[in-house]
Amino acid sequence: MSQEPLLIKALKCNNDGRPPVWLMRQAGRYMTEYQELKSKHSFIELCSSSELALKVSLQPINAFNMDAAIVFSDILIPFTGMGIDFTFNPGPSIKNPISSPHDILSLSHSDPYVHTTCILETIRLLKKTLESSNKAVIGFSGAPWTLANYLIKQEPYKQFHGTSIFAEQYNEAMHKLLALLSSVIIDYVSAQIEAGADAIQLFDTWAGNLSAQDYEKFALPYTARIIEAIHKKNRHCILFASNTSHIWRHMAQTGADCLSLDWRVDLGSVSSELKDSVALQGNLDPAKLFGKTSEVVTHADNLLKTMQGKKNYIVNLGHGVLQNTPRENVLNFVQRVTTHV
Ligand code: CP3
Repeated sequence: MSQEPLLIKALKCNNDGRPPVWLMRQAGRYMTEYQELKSKHSFIELCSSSELALKVSLQPINAFNMDAAIVFSDILIPFTGMGIDFTFNPGPSIKNPISSPHDILSLSHSDPYVHTTCILETIRLLKKTLESSNKAVIGFSGAPWTLANYLIKQEPYKQFHGTSIFAEQYNEAMHKLLALLSSVIIDYVSAQIEAGADAIQLFDTWAGNLSAQDYEKFALPYTARIIEAIHKKNRHCILFASNTSHIWRHMAQTGADCLSLDWRVDLGSVSSELKDSVALQGNLDPAKLFGKTSEVVTHADNLLKTMQGKKNYIVNLGHGVLQNTPRENVLNFVQRVTTHV
């Protein structure tokens, strides 16, 4: 008989055991198993075959015994059905980015049951494989603001200034785009839940570029709509963003069940201000995994100490695992948490 996953208990703010642990971007270039597959298949090929995506999703579970498996894919994959042409090299590159309101009119509404069947099948297979364990299956999507950052033409600007300029020049079109992305995402995550995802993580990686006021305009209402849809399907939502010092209070207003925060934020202070009303996930600086083993273990201990006795805590990094991260440090970090009593 499978028990309720620790991750779900923590998302319900009702975990009496040790905190669960998993790492964002836990599958990837720091693992030799992944590199081996990557030498034979392109990244898109790995995402487009449920058999390969299942293998990759399970690699960190088998190697480090994480408490949750995140389905292997990318936030850009649902663009496939929207009439957007993209590649990875290794970062995403859009061949036909949006540069005027007119470009938004030609975008289609992607149907997950037609355009992203592979990720749904991967989730079904993952769920089946992990059925008798107490590990959770996490589905995910990019959040509207972050996806818009990839869709909108940035050149000649850097650091996604192109998106903020587009929002300033074409306010109405920007809201149209965010609304379209929101409904695509709602269908996408709903299909992932139907396929067996135990929880959904929304990646709003670039939300920290917004002022708190603009977060309220361009991110909060759209994210809240998606979270409401996830709740209608009786699942919990983890909301991740980076550079969150000025927006984490606003992120809490989206109705997210869990805030995944970066290392610039003091978890202890957030926890006492929010009075354990939402779960918290994070927040070690991924660079710290390049330190000495003894230091990595101390970092895990510090997180556990800060959140000691909390029923709503999920150990994670403050952003994804970095390329070339020493594998033994990932193992030591995770083991320190899983052997914690
Ligand atoms: O967490 C996991 O292990 C699941 C897989 C996953 C990938 N991308 C695989 C991937 C997830 C959850 C993502 C989300 C994603 N993708 C985000 C949000 C999270 C974050 O890190 O901020 C963003 C912004 C992207 C866009 C993206 N995709 C970038 C910037 C890059 C290149 C740089 C990098 O970090 O590797 C990708 C490519 C990508 N997505 C790879 C992987 C494993 C590397 C592909 C390769 O092996 O060459």
